[in-house]
Amino acid sequence: MTERTGTTLYRDVWRRSIDEREGFWLDAARQIDWVRAPSAALTQHSPTDYSWFADGTLNTSYNALDRHVLAGRGDHTALIYDSAMTGTKARISYSQLLDRVARFAGVLRASGVGKGDRVVVYLPMIPEAVVAMLACARIGAVHSVVFGGFAASELAVRIDDARPTVIVTASGGLEPGKTVPYLPLVNKALQLSAGSVHTVIVRHRDAIDGSAADYADDTSVRWLDWAAAEATATPAEPVTVSSSDPLYILYTSGTTGNPKGIIRDNGGHAVALTWSMRGIYDIGPDDVFWAASDVGWVVGHSYIVYAPLLAGATTVIYEGKPIGTPDAGAFWRVVSEYRVNVLFTAPTAIRAIRRVDPELAELERYDVSSLTALFLAGERLDPETFHWVNDGLHCPVVDHWWQTETGWAICANPRGIQELPTKPGSTAVPVPGYDIAILDSKGQPITKPGKDGNIAIRLPLPPGSLLGIWGGADRFAAAYLTAFPGYYATGDSGHLDADGYLYVMGRTDDVINVAGHRLSTGSLEEVLTRHPAVAECAVLGVHDALKGQRAAGFVTLKAGWVVEHDLLTAELVNLVREHIGPVAAFRDVTILDRLPKTRSGKILRKTIRQIVDGEPYKIPPTIEDPTVLDALVRAVHPVPAIPIQFTGAKEPQ
Ligand code: COA
Ligand code: AMP
Repeated sequence: MTERTGTTLYRDVWRRSIDEREGFWLDAARQIDWVRAPSAALTQHSPTDYSWFADGTLNTSYNALDRHVLAGRGDHTALIYDSAMTGTKARISYSQLLDRVARFAGVLRASGVGKGDRVVVYLPMIPEAVVAMLACARIGAVHSVVFGGFAASELAVRIDDARPTVIVTASGGLEPGKTVPYLPLVNKALQLSAGSVHTVIVRHRDAIDGSAADYADDTSVRWLDWAAAEATATPAEPVTVSSSDPLYILYTSGTTGNPKGIIRDNGGHAVALTWSMRGIYDIGPDDVFWAASDVGWVVGHSYIVYAPLLAGATTVIYEGKPIGTPDAGAFWRVVSEYRVNVLFTAPTAIRAIRRVDPELAELERYDVSSLTALFLAGERLDPETFHWVNDGLHCPVVDHWWQTETGWAICANPRGIQELPTKPGSTAVPVPGYDIAILDSKGQPITKPGKDGNIAIRLPLPPGSLLGIWGGADRFAAAYLTAFPGYYATGDSGHLDADGYLYVMGRTDDVINVAGHRLSTGSLEEVLTRHPAVAECAVLGVHDALKGQRAAGFVTLKAGWVVEHDLLTAELVNLVREHIGPVAAFRDVTILDRLPKTRSGKILRKTIRQIVDGEPYKIPPTIEDPTVLDALVRAVHPVPAIPIQFTGAKEPQ
């Protein structure tokens, strides 16, 4: 980074986190309560295998709840629940949340769940999601939360990989204009999976039909009613675990159809998230933090559940959308009603609000003066959206970059250390602990500012980042560590500028980001090829004005098949909904005679994407048959791209 007096404090803190790693992280570790305090921060077993706070022992739920109650803050609000879908509003204090978590931990224990056992949590945005996660942490069990927008088969894939003994679920979720009953999905997933589950615990919601009693005849699995079980449970005390014992597994999309189970530890996670609340978000125990995401995503894990509670702050769990529930003022209502200090959401949510309320008229109805910053992540924040919200909101807008794998921000404007100048289009500077390099395809550092390359992080990754992939040390190495020895490959590309600000430009793999939701084009392709008429297909992420990207499918038909376009589209859309889920928001299908390929048979994905997005493109010299591109252009841009030239004739007055 060039000399800038304005960044000195940040630079000193960042430099210490790299050069004096032990001291930096042992200091940070003092912010949480240990059963046995760690004597060292980093224990390196090999250059790529290490653990954080290896000899430390603790309990994460104790740190999120008990210690605040013991410190006399039991009456402080831990959780605000606001459902725009049902109109329910509730405040739950630290004492009340602790009581519920201890009881539900007792329910899990009575169901045979012990330390290290996995529990799948398939719950909508209700307080019970937080209770279930912390209850697992309390007894040393490992939760794996699955997002409600996934189909039964995706749930089954996760059950087969994590092999839980218990599933915690609800009668369903609420989406605008419809209910999403969960129990048929869970039941189907149980039939599709290999049979590790012996108990399903069901939280009945009045708004949605379905309860454990409906499955009383099931002889293979015991279905328990949450409320009845919680009412009679014996509260469980926190179980001491090792720092590196797993806290949770969270599945995320990779390049193949098999999602990767990211493993998070207890100690490193608690230390990193606690540090981040002050260091990045500048949030303390008296503040209200709202991550408008879902507990099924990493943002929900880290910043709806764990980090705000570890910091002793108040977290908001909001069931609703940025628009339509009931209007584009929904976010501002929540901010004003609960005096939210920091709002964290995805750029898509802001674009959705802008589309409906371009003048930000709804904002006038609410007092949002409590907001100290708006943090955005999950996808690229385009400068236009940045300027729109920055001009309208009158509080700092911070774009920060992270991944399910890292669990917390890699680059951000670290407001708790020092507010740095904002550069639209950039996710600002590396967060302490993260040492970023831009590498060329051979793994050589690119030092020239502004030149794009692969974004990599020098090992070791800081505390809180993934320790591996569930059931696959080799898979972990193959996915992240072998491309550039000594580095973690992020899968993102971009550049650093002369001030050390990072610009994330896109992915280098087949992962796409639809409304901040990460999807694998490989898994979408696997689904499309299940259709009997489809011979070959390619799925790409193309530009979408609202969702950033959307998945577009290009298919060729088997010889002899004639299918009407709309019918095939409807069938493929249904297949994706059935096998991946509505969250894929898959709608675009183009039928081609042939896919554009190189002579060696590789599909020219980049060229297809450029054509669809209307970007300039070069005909690759290795192309098998250039006329295939003409057919593609005609298929995706049926209206002539060249504007019609008028002759200057005037309309009659
Ligand atoms: N359970 C069940 N279904 C869900 C779901 C859930 N938790 N979340 C989404 N879906 C369904 C939706 O109902 C929709 O189904 P449909 O095709 O039958 O209508 C589909 O999945 C696509 O949903 P979504 O991507 O939310 O699109 P949308 O058009 O309904 O809403 C936005 C658009 C912009 C309002 C919405 O995408 C949004 O709020 N985005 C914010 C992004 C965000 O918070 N990301 C988290 C990462 S930080
Ligand atoms: P997920 O694991 O679902 O959080 O998705 C992580 C991916 O989302 C990253 O690898 C990036 O491709 C993208 N991403 C997240 N945050 C940002 C950001 N602020 N700017 C650009 N891309 C982002």
